[in-house]
Amino acid sequence: MVSCIAAAAILVALYIVTYYNFLKGARCRSDTCLRGKTVIVTGGNTGIGKQTALDLARRGARVILACRNKERAEAAVFDIRKKSGNNQVVFMQLDLASLKSVRAFAETFLKSEPQLHILINNAGIGSNGKTADGFNVVWEVNHLGHFLLTRLLLDRLKLCSPSRVVVVTSAMYRYGKIDFSNLNPPGEGLIQVLRNYSCSKLCNVLFVRELANCLEGTNVTCYSVHPGAVNTEVFRQLKCWMKVFFVPVATLFFQTPVDGAQTPIYCAVQEGIEKFSGRYFVDCKVREVLPHARDDAVARKLWEVSERMVGLGS
Ligand SMILES: NC(=O)c1ccc[n+]([C@@H]2O[C@H](COP(=O)([O-])OP(=O)(O)OC[C@H]3O[C@@H](n4cnc5c(N)ncnc54)[C@H](OP(=O)(O)O)[C@@H]3O)[C@@H](O)[C@H]2O)c1
Repeated sequence: MVSCIAAAAILVALYIVTYYNFLKGARCRSDTCLRGKTVIVTGGNTGIGKQTALDLARRGARVILACRNKERAEAAVFDIRKKSGNNQVVFMQLDLASLKSVRAFAETFLKSEPQLHILINNAGIGSNGKTADGFNVVWEVNHLGHFLLTRLLLDRLKLCSPSRVVVVTSAMYRYGKIDFSNLNPPGEGLIQVLRNYSCSKLCNVLFVRELANCLEGTNVTCYSVHPGAVNTEVFRQLKCWMKVFFVPVATLFFQTPVDGAQTPIYCAVQEGIEKFSGRYFVDCKVREVLPHARDDAVARKLWEVSERMVGLGS
């Protein structure tokens, strides 16, 4: 009995040491105040986006939660207002799986909000299915919808510079491949969904590189961010049998959404990182990406193809 208790105590101690030394990740230490600044967080109603929005609201920003589901978003607005003591937190409808909705959001935002200082492209999905626009849902939500959103808001960001765009990607970008002859394969089956997800996250990294080129000299900077492995609702689509294995692992070994929000917050507020515009951040530090994610010719072509897909002239 005594040896069982001792073994359990050692295991718990080992777990705590491992968690705090290797899993928890770095914290954003910046005390930047955002009073008078306006921020958009896509998918700000839950997970990493909600914790990012809460932190930025605590810094005094006016925070727009750009979300698809009114009820979930309004519950998050209520919660963030209460926790931050900031009543400048509002919901605006945005469904990134619809280019029409992205255009409507941008139109409403530009009419009703005079300023934009930080755009956080956080919303993301990893699931099957096709959108009404005819794209696979992962491609449209994770890349194309955010591409259009950013482009439509760019002039306002330039007007309010210094300003920033933060794109939440994933370390899964490393498994992504871009095949321009088949950019939008149907997302059926787990393997294909994972392929589509990795490809969309590679597009996030390449988009930020090309965006930084386009923004040179404007005082608008941009960053892509891997938030870490974070225990959020992103895995809600998993089948029940997968959850049996996955939920305990995620609970024990993944970061909390507060931890996962640290690098997006860092890239949104940390002073002095402007020289890293276009780069990829993990754990509040700039990191080199693999060669296929820093191919500027592919990044340029992706930009042009995306422009055509969303119906923007260059
Ligand atoms: N969790 C991780 O381990 C991890 C690792 C690497 C990267 N990431 C990235 O981190 C970002 C945030 O993910 P998370 O883990 O916080 O996931 P989450 O808890 O599932 O949150 C995702 C957010 O995206 C929103 N969203 C999904 N489809 C949308 C659409 N069509 N239009 C507008 N919003 C939509 C969701 O809205 P609803 O609530 O209405 O569904 C939700 O607010 C994603 O880009 C993800 O790829 C996560």
